[in-house]
Amino acid sequence: MAKITISTPIYYVNAQPHIGSAYTTIAADVLARYYRQHGNEVLLSTGTDENSQKTLKAADSAGQKPTEYLEQMAADWKQAFDDLQVGYDRFIRTTEPDHKKAVNTFVKSLKSEDLYQGEYEGLYCTGCEEFKRPEDLVDGKCPLHNVEPEKIKEKNYFFRLSNYQQALLDHIKENPDFIQPVTRRNEIVSFIERGLVDISLTRQNSKWGIPYPLAEDQVLYVWIEALVNYLTVVGYPDDSYKERWPTSLNIIGKDISKFHCVYWPAMLMSAGLPLPKRVFVHGFLTSDGQKMSKSLGNVVDPLEIAQRYGVEPLRFYLLRETPFGVDGDFSEKRLMELYNSELANELGNLVQRTAVMLDKYQDGNIGEVLPHSHDVHGYHEAMKDLRFDKALHEVWLLIRGLNQYVEEEKPWELAKSDREQLADVLAHLAVDLLQVAELLTPFMPTTAERIIKTFEGGKAHLDVGILFPKAE
Ligand code: MSP
Repeated sequence: MAKITISTPIYYVNAQPHIGSAYTTIAADVLARYYRQHGNEVLLSTGTDENSQKTLKAADSAGQKPTEYLEQMAADWKQAFDDLQVGYDRFIRTTEPDHKKAVNTFVKSLKSEDLYQGEYEGLYCTGCEEFKRPEDLVDGKCPLHNVEPEKIKEKNYFFRLSNYQQALLDHIKENPDFIQPVTRRNEIVSFIERGLVDISLTRQNSKWGIPYPLAEDQVLYVWIEALVNYLTVVGYPDDSYKERWPTSLNIIGKDISKFHCVYWPAMLMSAGLPLPKRVFVHGFLTSDGQKMSKSLGNVVDPLEIAQRYGVEPLRFYLLRETPFGVDGDFSEKRLMELYNSELANELGNLVQRTAVMLDKYQDGNIGEVLPHSHDVHGYHEAMKDLRFDKALHEVWLLIRGLNQYVEEEKPWELAKSDREQLADVLAHLAVDLLQVAELLTPFMPTTAERIIKTFEGGKAHLDVGILFPKAE
């Protein structure tokens, strides 16, 4: 049994979860369930990034004390992930004491020659919590937040990122699976090759955050300590962390790849720790073809969608439609189409029909249950590559094959002419649907469970009911 640790980013809590945060987290959960199903000891971590300046601003606008605000928001985020059936093992909040302890130990273990004091004069976007260079801006504004960054001038401690340029390039070259997909790896390689500039490790004029252990008038730059959460969740600095370090897989969106594929690995090198085995960078979701933004009023609330169509159809749709790794679109119209065609018609009807025929022609008896008959090698390969769309495509090929089988064999005619062949066909269908359920378990655990219940113990159980009532 292998130990597998999968981590999502930790989320800023200046707003409620939206479809983008649900996307990252659901994908991580699907993979975690897949590895658990196949006998691995999985640790799935997610959580909230609470030491950000944005938090202070949001608490202020809500008229709340930061701690009260954070308590409420962390509870909301946790609940949202519970509602989306995310089976996390650790929900980390960066205001928790064990995180502060991990951060202190980690920062103290950075090589002293990598740290120096200096002055930062330049731009900062609080929306991104990121220092910006003029070339990052469009018309003087941060393209992600559409606001002019602040001009700041402050005393900072710096981390000599420039020391790690060659070591990072070597690591990426020697470990081709470290950054995936390959388009993202290439972007990171060219970013590093353009030359790495040292980064601020601390912020001077900020009261909110984790104090810098080597100079208490400074707090750590939020990104620096947020990245350490990946160590906190495996128990660092207690020795046991070694059982789960390095992280097997970090799943992140493309906007934060520099932090995970450049800054974090360089800091780990400085601290003498091994690097995560794999970072998978997914694309961005738009909303009906447009960038999602509060000002356009088109931010999709995953819980509202889940209420309308069910959590599992939402999980299915997010991963079925777009290859994980490229940009995709969230369209409710498309979700409904897929719900009706693939879930209700092709899968739901097939399960229902099979159970009804078993009930009608054989008193519910399935008879001799044969072993699974389909080769699902393609599905497993796709899951390991995080090509969820491909994995689901494989399952639907199987489902479509079964629907065709029903049309060709016509069990309702066999019932009149050949009871032996009928028994064989129905047993085949039931067994193959059990195999479908197994393959769907990571994506739609409750649906899979219901299919299994429908054909449990060699009998068809009609009382499980219809899987996907038609959506309108
Ligand atoms: N707090 C940092 C991460 C720190 S990890 C040490 C952060 N938080 S975030 O809340 O802004 O974003 C978290 C994740 O949500 C990122 O992976 C980001 O890419 C993802 N998404 C945010 N909007 C998205 C879309 N519209 N589409 C897909 N994913 C997007 O960054």
